[in-house]
Amino acid sequence: MRNRKAALSAIAAAASLALTLSACGQDSDGGSEDTKGDAKGSTVGIAMPTKSSERWIADGANVEKNLKAAGYKTKLAYGEDDPDTQVSQIENMITQGVSALIIAAIDNKSLDNVLQQAKDAKIPVISYDRLILNSPNVDYYASFDNEKVGELQGTQIVEKLGLKDGSKKGPFNVELFAGSNDDNNTQYFFNGAMKVLQPYIDKKQLVVKSGQTKLTQVTTLRWDGGTAQKRMEELLTAAYRKGKVDAVLSPYDGISIGILSALKSDDYGSKSKPMPVVTGQDAEVASLKSIKAGEQTATVFKDTRELAKVAANMVDSVLNDKKPEINDTKSYDNGSKVVPAYLLTPVSVDKTNYQKVVIDSGYVKAGAVN
Ligand code: GAL
Repeated sequence: MRNRKAALSAIAAAASLALTLSACGQDSDGGSEDTKGDAKGSTVGIAMPTKSSERWIADGANVEKNLKAAGYKTKLAYGEDDPDTQVSQIENMITQGVSALIIAAIDNKSLDNVLQQAKDAKIPVISYDRLILNSPNVDYYASFDNEKVGELQGTQIVEKLGLKDGSKKGPFNVELFAGSNDDNNTQYFFNGAMKVLQPYIDKKQLVVKSGQTKLTQVTTLRWDGGTAQKRMEELLTAAYRKGKVDAVLSPYDGISIGILSALKSDDYGSKSKPMPVVTGQDAEVASLKSIKAGEQTATVFKDTRELAKVAANMVDSVLNDKKPEINDTKSYDNGSKVVPAYLLTPVSVDKTNYQKVVIDSGYVKAGAVN
């Protein structure tokens, strides 16, 4: 028996050696054996937008973790929501000789020059979460299905109001918020949501009393919660002296928290004025607590641990002359080229499933939401 096992494992070892050899043979065609030796141990630059939101802190840490596990060194910088700071951070990384760049842009149109420098230095670039626009020097894009995020948010509104199943007819008052106008994701989230909401607006089952329905009227620079709070206060004063708002489309948890503050100051959440449906995105702890407390209605969970893995794998593949895994070759035209992408799936979360989706999966620690 033991001999048979030994013989079998010898065969397995020989087979795997053969596989390795043939893989090496293929690699060495492109001279990648050398690259491989160089690539491992090289430093990958990671440029993240801001530490003001917990998701980006986790993104940075997770990208580093995955790259280090694959044998790379890392250099991580946060641009503090200032496009010029981010550009100079990336310039520094290029000067320091990073082997690849992973960039979550602050202003998607500000990176053209610095990406040309990266190209000249033969440094591949992965656009992380947010697509970098107007540059041919973006090799791959790792993100979520961003239009789907918006569709989920729109659906949360029509479901919670009872419009979707027809149990209520409305009309209901809704106000719309969008993300930062310099983030390419913003239009995808907004258009996805409007795809769901517009038919109800057309049928007058949903009414935007402020009249602000165009993307350019509803964006929130740098996704800032305080800016959103101020706009919500203004909307309540201008359009809701009579009547009340029944739903607010919010694209991101930080914005939702600002909106909720404005609503609370106007007595929403009391017996006579129930809290409207308020959407969100990112499953941030403050919003999970708010959902638990019955204030924010829902969020959209994007497992950024998976996104970090995808981006790190892309770098590892590119640096080793292999094709990264992609699942989309048509959705993301950045104005210069269609950037090959890997898109992950977002998940709709409310009080019925946040425990299972966000906490049991280990994304957020149970104690954090108590
Ligand atoms: C977007 C991102 C969202 C949210 C937002 C604000 O680009 O896709 O998940 O984090 O930025 O940070």
